[in-house]
Amino acid sequence: MPAGTGPPGIGVAVAGWGMAVPERRVTNEDLTRMVDTSDAWITERTGIKERRWAGPGETTATMAIEAGAAAIKRADLCPSDIGCCIVATFTSEQPLPPTGAFVQDGLGLRCGAFDLDAACSGFVYGLVVGASMVAAGHFGPVLVVGTETLSRVTDMEDRSTCVLFGDGAGAVVLVPSAEPNLLSWDLNCDGSTAHLLAIRSGGSRLPITIESISAGDHWLKMEGKEVYRRAVRAIVESCEKAIASAGLVASDIDLFIPHQANLRIIEAASSRLGFPSDKVFVNIDRYGNTSAASVPIALAEAADEGRLRDGDLVLLSGFGAGMSWASVVLRWGPAR
Ligand code: ACO
Repeated sequence: MPAGTGPPGIGVAVAGWGMAVPERRVTNEDLTRMVDTSDAWITERTGIKERRWAGPGETTATMAIEAGAAAIKRADLCPSDIGCCIVATFTSEQPLPPTGAFVQDGLGLRCGAFDLDAACSGFVYGLVVGASMVAAGHFGPVLVVGTETLSRVTDMEDRSTCVLFGDGAGAVVLVPSAEPNLLSWDLNCDGSTAHLLAIRSGGSRLPITIESISAGDHWLKMEGKEVYRRAVRAIVESCEKAIASAGLVASDIDLFIPHQANLRIIEAASSRLGFPSDKVFVNIDRYGNTSAASVPIALAEAADEGRLRDGDLVLLSGFGAGMSWASVVLRWGPAR
C-alpha cells in the first residue's frame, strides 16, 4: 500500500445505537463505607465519581438485550432483520451456553449469535468482525454489543480494583453502505503480559475448586501500575496506526472515543496524540470502567448528545486484558 493512501476501508454504516446501565448508582462516598478509600483518592487517581452496579435480576444478557433493542429500534429495523449478533464480553452470563444465546432469545432474533472475548477492546474487535461480515454481503445488518457485569467478578474487599469497575452495555447495528465508512483499524495483542490482568480460575487451566475459591482466584486481579504504563503507549501507537492507515492526520479526527479506564490514561494519551479536550469524549466520571461496554456506551451517549454529525471522523480505541488493544477510524453518517 503506498504510504499515506490508506486501505480501501469497509462499506458499512452505523444505523442504530443504544445503551443500558443498571439503576443502582454507587458513589465514591458509598465505597468509603466498604473499603479503606476516599473520594479524593478515587477522583484524583481515576476521575471516577460514581459507577452503576447490577441489582437482582440484572445480568450481562439483560443489559445487552436492553441496549440491543434500543439500537435495533433506532435503526428502524425489526429483530427479524438482524443477520447476526456478536456479543463482546468477558463477564459472560454463565460459562455455557454463550451469552449470545441468551441475547438472541431475549431480543427475538432469528439469526446466529456468538460471543467475542477481547476484554476491554472486545467491542472494537467486534466492530471490525461485524463490519467484515456485513461487507461480505451474506448477513444483512449485524448487531454488535459490548456488555459487562464487572461487579460480579470484582473482590469488593480489594480497594485497588473495586473502586474502578462498573456494569453496563452498549450496542450498534451495522448495515451495508456503498461508502467505505470503516476507514481503518488496528487490532493487536501481547499475550506475554496476560498475567497483568486476569481472573485465574474458572477455565481449563485452573478449574474452580474449594482451594481456588479460598485463594480468591475467581476474582479479577490487576497489576494496576504496569497496566497503566503499557496502556498509554498501546493506545497512542494503535491510534497513530489507525489514523495513518486511513490516510489521515490527528487533526482530521472530529471526536476521539477512548476506552474509559482511567481519566489520567485518557488525558495522557489524548495529549500525546494532540487532541484538545473538546475532541475527547469522557464519561468515566459517571460509569467507571465498564470494559467491553465502555466504548459503545460512550458512542451512544455522544450520538444522543449530538456530538456526532454526518461525515464526522470518529476514532474509537480500546485496551485491556491480554493485553489486547484495538482502534478504528469510522466515518459517521447514514448508509449511502
Ligand atoms: N483508595 C486509597 N488508596 C488506594 C486505593 C484506594 N482505592 N487503591 C490503592 N491505594 C493505595 C495503594 O495501596 C498504594 O499505597 P502505598 O503507596 O502505601 O503502597 C497507593 O494507593 C498507590 O497505589 P498505586 O497502585 O501505585 O496507584 P496508581 O496511581 O497506579 O493508581 C490505578 C492505581 C488507578 C489502578 C492505576 O494504576 C490504573 O488506572 N491502572 C490501569 C487500570 C486499567 O486501565 N486497566 C485496564 C483495563 S481493565 C480490564 O481490562 C478489565
